[in-house]
Amino acid sequence: MNNSELIRYALEARKQSYSPYSGFSVGAALLCKNGMVFSGCNIENSAFSPTVCAERTAFFKAVSEGEKEFLKIAVVGGNSDCEFPDNYCPPCGVCRQVMNEFCENDFEIIMAKTEDDYIVMKLIDILPAGFDKREI
Ligand code: THU
Repeated sequence: MNNSELIRYALEARKQSYSPYSGFSVGAALLCKNGMVFSGCNIENSAFSPTVCAERTAFFKAVSEGEKEFLKIAVVGGNSDCEFPDNYCPPCGVCRQVMNEFCENDFEIIMAKTEDDYIVMKLIDILPAGFDKREI
């Protein structure tokens, strides 16, 4: 699956965002090594801390369905009023650490505004010193 196709899944997932408190809607689409795609959106809560990001929704859906091998993730996030975000949406630190649990250094994070306008970074570059208990 190419990057534009994966971004389209993320844009679709963003439509399901539940973000009444921030007004910031995020969608993510996670590609497994076997070709399956798991999408997710951010889901907020009036108590704030139970809020979960779109990326973790996608990861937890995949892992809970038995998938643990991943190639790349597309992320789109921005003002809920806008069909397409104005800026790229970098994953938060907690989501980077979740990626670190399951993904290799060359796992790709595609940050997109539209299916044609995106940047790609590798996990090792956005989380150079992530915690990994397997390395202790
Ligand atoms: N958010 C995500 O879903 N992913 C990110 O990478 C950054 C932030 C969500 C959390 C919250 O619902 C909203 O965006 C504003 O922070």
